[in-house]
Amino acid sequence: MGNKLQSFTNPKWTFSLPQETPSYTHEQHAYTIEMAPEAPYTVKWGIMATGGIAETFCKDLLTDPATRSVHDVKHQIVAVSSSSSVERAASFIKKIDGPATARAYGSYAELVADSDVDIIYVATPHSHHFQNAMLALEAGKNVLCEKALTVTASQAKKLVAKAMEKNLFFLEAMWTRYFPLSIKIRELISSGEIGTVYRTLGEFFARLLSQNFLVHLRLPGLESKDHDTNPPRPADLSCNENTPQAAGVVNFPDTHRMVSKDLAGGALLDLGVYALTWVFQTLYHVQPSATKEAPRVLAAANQYHTGVDENTSVICHFPDTRAIGVATTSMLVGTSPHGEATAAPAVRIQGSKGEIQVPHPAYRPLAYSVIRKEGDGDVEVVKCPIPTDPARGNWGHGMFWEADECARCLRDGKKQSSTLPWDESIVIMQTMEEALRQGGVEYPELITTDIYDAKSPLNTGNK
Ligand SMILES: NC(=O)c1ccc[n+]([C@@H]2O[C@H](COP(=O)([O-])OP(=O)(O)OC[C@H]3O[C@@H](n4cnc5c(N)ncnc54)[C@H](OP(=O)(O)O)[C@@H]3O)[C@@H](O)[C@H]2O)c1
Repeated sequence: MGNKLQSFTNPKWTFSLPQETPSYTHEQHAYTIEMAPEAPYTVKWGIMATGGIAETFCKDLLTDPATRSVHDVKHQIVAVSSSSSVERAASFIKKIDGPATARAYGSYAELVADSDVDIIYVATPHSHHFQNAMLALEAGKNVLCEKALTVTASQAKKLVAKAMEKNLFFLEAMWTRYFPLSIKIRELISSGEIGTVYRTLGEFFARLLSQNFLVHLRLPGLESKDHDTNPPRPADLSCNENTPQAAGVVNFPDTHRMVSKDLAGGALLDLGVYALTWVFQTLYHVQPSATKEAPRVLAAANQYHTGVDENTSVICHFPDTRAIGVATTSMLVGTSPHGEATAAPAVRIQGSKGEIQVPHPAYRPLAYSVIRKEGDGDVEVVKCPIPTDPARGNWGHGMFWEADECARCLRDGKKQSSTLPWDESIVIMQTMEEALRQGGVEYPELITTDIYDAKSPLNTGNK
């Protein structure tokens, strides 16, 4: 028997087998354990802002990775900052049932100066992302920044340039991309399962005020009573967000980040970015990198009375690959009139040999279907439930997969994720910027500038 070894790693142990060993069985014990179990790579997170999505993300970070069969990385929340007050940061740590050792800060500047933080999660409104992410990068911190990445493409480019200059990891937090479901669908496309993909139709309409939607997105001030005790449920994307009193007026105060111009409100940057995610991950991401073609953009948007877009459609035209993607988003109507997953799919990926359909909600789908042109007419439905952690009240939202990706990139010294590379985030921002330009939406200078200012009110506070 030769002495060359082959290795494989199971979730907990690394074994070495003689190369000829045909297979491992418990009975034969034909293996020798040569190494201690590999300790998972642990990432220390600093959390910037204490709003709705920060809460959801942190609760995901606190789940045991083993509950999703992940054993090579794990996460620690070591610090939380609030631009409102240190007390708010401290009470956030309690609210998420976070570690007692986590440090609370009353400013974002203190967080980015904490030498014990590996990566900052930026969870402020998108109006703030450029200044806040730059604050962290300038301080030498790796960054995971919530979607929409920025307000303008130029801001996104500057953040990428800064990450390159400082040799730091930087990623847009488009969590849906890291779902096993998304990975599988991209694989199906690349392997030609539905032939050449010529069209993707993606909708993201949401009834933002439905109770179920609130459970997921944690819109501040609009929490349902069972918000913290019920496990997450699929979002209700049914229609009619109008107030009962006035048609066409949504139930957000005009100062709310969903509709305020000062906070880069509007349907496209908040919701439509998911519809575009499906267009991009099925028509752009899968193109060969040498010949990647950015789309030509044709858009229409109606404006809400605050001046943000309320109802927007974007056609992405890829003439070289003969593909077209249509992304639609609205705060006024819904994908599913009755709120059930039985309505028309949220996403249709249409190829020469068949089609893949994804039910709503487009940001957190729990299944997909494959319908083949040839065949017996069967629809193959694949369910993709999101794992939960019994030790954390059966919590599990699906944001942990993007966190795992960050951890692996940091462990492996990667500065960007191949699942959502920098150039793609920039092209998506260019697409949204162009769509909003065509729709006549203009945001204020304070939030569109690409000049970094550590003392910008966007960095110094929400007090
Ligand atoms: N991935 C997802 O599924 C998902 C879901 C929802 C939202 N998001 C994205 O996450 C970001 C935050 O959304 P959110 O729903 O968490 O918002 P939110 O609940 O309003 O929280 C935003 C937080 O940002 C901080 N902030 C700083 N200046 C602010 C200002 N002038 N106005 C309001 N907040 C300010 C506040 O925290 P401090 O006072 O502690 O500083 C606030 O709690 C947005 O970019 C949104 O698109 C992502």
